[in-house]
Amino acid sequence: MPDRPASGARPVVRRDDGRARVFLARPIPDQLMRRIAEVAHVEVHEGSDPPSARELAVRCRDVDGLLATSADRVDEALLEACPDLAVVSNLAVGYDNVDVPAMTRRGVPVGNTPGVLTEATADLAFALVLVTARRVVEARDAVLAGRWKGWDPGFMLGMELAGSTIGILGAGRIGQAVARRALAFQMGVLAWSRSGATALAPGLEAVERVGFDELFERSDVVSIHVSLAPETVHLVGARELALMKAGALLVNTARGPVVDQAALTDALRSGSLGGAGLDVVEVEPIPLDDPLLGLANCVVLPHVGSATTATRTAMASLAVDNLLAGLRGEVLPACVNPEVYTSAS
Ligand code: GLV
Repeated sequence: MPDRPASGARPVVRRDDGRARVFLARPIPDQLMRRIAEVAHVEVHEGSDPPSARELAVRCRDVDGLLATSADRVDEALLEACPDLAVVSNLAVGYDNVDVPAMTRRGVPVGNTPGVLTEATADLAFALVLVTARRVVEARDAVLAGRWKGWDPGFMLGMELAGSTIGILGAGRIGQAVARRALAFQMGVLAWSRSGATALAPGLEAVERVGFDELFERSDVVSIHVSLAPETVHLVGARELALMKAGALLVNTARGPVVDQAALTDALRSGSLGGAGLDVVEVEPIPLDDPLLGLANCVVLPHVGSATTATRTAMASLAVDNLLAGLRGEVLPACVNPEVYTSAS
């Protein structure tokens, strides 16, 4: 018998032995894997690369639940191939890899992992602010290349953060956590958010809300924290980069396609932009012949914003909570399409 689902959501098909089937697109810590195995048959994609779209479709063919990551495309085609799929749990706060309207149309709730990765991601964003402002990677490369000839008052000069201004593009949870760090570094903080109305947390009274163009014009560092949506693709392009002060810095720990990477490469090459710190790029992993990798004023990291042991464990735990709730036909604790429970299936 199917479990009675939360209204509107697709029922979970039970197998003859009463256990659901789930596919994990990546391994998660053993203790969390065991929580799933208590109630369901579990299959896991092993290996260091994500599954191909074809492997995902084949291995999800008769599963009820999928635990995916932002590297997996979860779309209409996957739903076609996997008619029993009743819940998708995304091991990420972002869910641009999931065609949410398609999931909602089919009554499939989608979970994500908000909140638990805020501080780790803000730490990494601020690390990139420091690394680009103080040219840390360039300085290290200079040591390794034997270009450290002695203490030189003009060597590797960077930007002083105290007294500089950071612009937070997207003042949600992570943007606000970066703002807190910037205030502690005695920076002026400007913020812009798409909704315009996101309330700022206590302690952020010194943050000045500004218009979109003003943020680029007045900031010495712009740090990007908007989610990826059709409206934010190339939100930062040649026009916005041209608004920035000469020598200003850009940090992106959100999603690569928010920045027009060709325009960014031009701005870094010409020196109009002083530097960029990128944890995300348009194509991940970045091809090794990408011109950004040849620029001394650009630091590219492999999408590790949330990569601390504690945070990744907390994310996996919330993702398992979402998955198991979906299998029980209950409302997911962190659901990105709650309308699935009210719309007729
Ligand atoms: C990581 O990029 C996430 O969205 O959690």
